Amino acid sequence: MSNIDEFFEKVITVRLPEDRESIDILDQTLLPGTLKRINLHTKEEVWDAIKKLKVRGAPAIGVSAAYGIAVLANKFATDDYDEFYKEFKELKDYLASSRPTAVNLFWALNRMDDKAKELKGEPVSKIKEILFEEAQKIRDEDVAISRNIGELGFGLLKELKKDGKEIGILTHCNAGTIATAKYGTATAPMYTALEHGWKGSDMHVYCDETRPLLQGARLTAFELHNAGIKTTLQCDNMASMLMKQGKIDIIFVGCDRVAKNGDSANKIGTSGLAILAKHYGIPFYICAPSSTIDLKTATGNDIPIEMRDPEEVTTMWYKERMAPEGIDAFNPAFDFAEHELITGIITEKGIAKAPFDKAFEELGI
Ligand code: MRU
Repeated sequence: MSNIDEFFEKVITVRLPEDRESIDILDQTLLPGTLKRINLHTKEEVWDAIKKLKVRGAPAIGVSAAYGIAVLANKFATDDYDEFYKEFKELKDYLASSRPTAVNLFWALNRMDDKAKELKGEPVSKIKEILFEEAQKIRDEDVAISRNIGELGFGLLKELKKDGKEIGILTHCNAGTIATAKYGTATAPMYTALEHGWKGSDMHVYCDETRPLLQGARLTAFELHNAGIKTTLQCDNMASMLMKQGKIDIIFVGCDRVAKNGDSANKIGTSGLAILAKHYGIPFYICAPSSTIDLKTATGNDIPIEMRDPEEVTTMWYKERMAPEGIDAFNPAFDFAEHELITGIITEKGIAKAPFDKAFEELGI
């Protein structure tokens, strides 16, 4: 096993234990200091883990919801299909209420729901087994999908490689291995480069800290550094300086939902980064599995944006509150980059370029 595979193994985001009584996740709120796995047995525990970002990142949320609904439906006591499906539907709606923006959550739950409906008439015990198989398929497909995204992104890195000079890559939030089943999306090109024999020093990844929950500092910097990739951390408001100094050749970010016109919602700060990239003429790529593309959502303005507790801005991570008592704090968890600012959307099926709606159609999305 290579070093990188050993690392992937250590930080598996979510898995199903042999007894299938719970789902087993890496608690991402404790990283980078503590690598601790926890088991989620109840629907409240699964909901809470997604809400509190113990498991996070669009594809990882989808895989967790799929495993979660399979484990919980397996505990339903009834043998009657109609009763089973009624409980299943209530559970699905409950899990879907945990976070609003990442479409992968709804996509994975709908896929499980379609399976449960398609199997009407089969014994409930058989349906339960097939739901486990479907959840496993969602997880396994995610590995293959992110590897494809990695190959396509690696193609772009190869074009940038000149005179042995390191390639400067900027990323925001965490769209890494722990946000997916294996390679990440925005990190997939870099991990794929390692698999193709590149050295960690051939690339230099600049990670935005990503206020207020610090996914860049706590998660992406942790991942890439452990994988042996040259990594530098900067506060979000320093990205412009890096671009001005010519240190950034390309930007890869992940995504929570792509609208039909190509507007792409991702962690708060992504929109500003896209505007900066345009100003400095730096290619700006969204990396997203096709399950993140939501053709039912027309534009970025139609994407529901999660608002989070103001305490994350005023208090969290500080020894003491760093804002006056009673002050209002604005805390949207996501924003969206307008399609005009996006160079391309790297999916497992190919790289979509503007006009995006047409490109999605051509790629069979
Ligand atoms: O609030 P988070 O940490 O779940 O936000 C995650 C992101 O914005 C990621 O970039 C996105 O989900 C893609 S993960 C491959």
